[in-house]
Amino acid sequence: DVAPMDERFEDSFGIGAAVEPFQLEGESAEVLKYHYNSIVAENAMKPLYIAPEEGEYFWEDADQIVNFAKENDMYLRYHTLVWHSQIADWFFLDEEGNPMVEEEDPEKREENKQLLLDRMRDYIKTVVLRYKDDVDAWDVVNEVVDDGGGLRESAWYQITGTDYIKVAFETAREYAGEDAMLYINDYNNEVDSVKRDDFYNLVKELLEDGVPIDGVGLQSHIQLNWPSIEETREAIQMYSDLGLDVQITELDVSIYGWPPSGEYKTEDEIPDSILEEQANRYRDLFSLYEEMDDAISNVTFWGIADNHTWLDDRAKEYSGDGRGKDAPFAFDTQYNVKPAYFAIMGLK
Ligand code: XIL
Repeated sequence: DVAPMDERFEDSFGIGAAVEPFQLEGESAEVLKYHYNSIVAENAMKPLYIAPEEGEYFWEDADQIVNFAKENDMYLRYHTLVWHSQIADWFFLDEEGNPMVEEEDPEKREENKQLLLDRMRDYIKTVVLRYKDDVDAWDVVNEVVDDGGGLRESAWYQITGTDYIKVAFETAREYAGEDAMLYINDYNNEVDSVKRDDFYNLVKELLEDGVPIDGVGLQSHIQLNWPSIEETREAIQMYSDLGLDVQITELDVSIYGWPPSGEYKTEDEIPDSILEEQANRYRDLFSLYEEMDDAISNVTFWGIADNHTWLDDRAKEYSGDGRGKDAPFAFDTQYNVKPAYFAIMGLK
């Protein structure tokens, strides 16, 4: 019998997992209820699934996740209202069905911009009004900063400039209410780099501009030795000093570097020494989170256990032979505890 992971951090922050609807029954659901007190949809609440066609909404999967959270009294993160990825094309087509990004006429570009912002407002309003009583934290925009710094040149940015960010937060605030917690989420925004500087400056400018942001999400798709605990500490402090809440939103510690070699093809092939290294990494991370628990309100893993992780797709994609297994979490593919679990629990 192992102790519930979330109980250890009861006085510090919530412990979450990303889920797909099929994981809400059977053993995965039991593990979810026992070890986690917070959930987020791995895919089901993204624009592509909620709004596949103009004027058509698909709520079934998202509703299942919301209902599971309610039934089990779990904290619910909404991921994500606005993103450049996993969104249907119709958002970015003009009335004639032409891609807005290709328009050259300035007048027509301005019309397109207004049309896109209207569609976004409409979309956010519809989603937020449906779920506002159930959602505890909203990822309002995701990954708006480019890896090399500067704003990401997404369709959103090409068509509206930075207006979409501002309008997204204002619309979310308008319909979710004053008490709603609104986040700007990104990856590598704790890594000491141009991206972090630009992300920080963007958030600071938006706040100075009166844009209603309550918190920063650090996705934290990280590796055994990267980024350092020191730079992670620094980043959490920087965002906290802006008066913002910090959440760790998509934590997974890959056993590979980047790009992933995918050299281990099955769980059994992964050496114990690597799982030990991973445990040390998790120990250092959770010590940091606990030390900074005034700044951090939630730590969410991007999955429940090693049997279901998006990192497997990446290991397969980059390995060269189409095969590869990653193992980023505290529980193995059979939901047994790993060395990482004991490290997180302060037992090793
Ligand atoms: C990933 C999901 O895990 C995959 O199932 C899907 O195919 C692609 O998206 N950053 C994010 C998440 O903000 O939404 C991504 O989730 C992982 C990277």
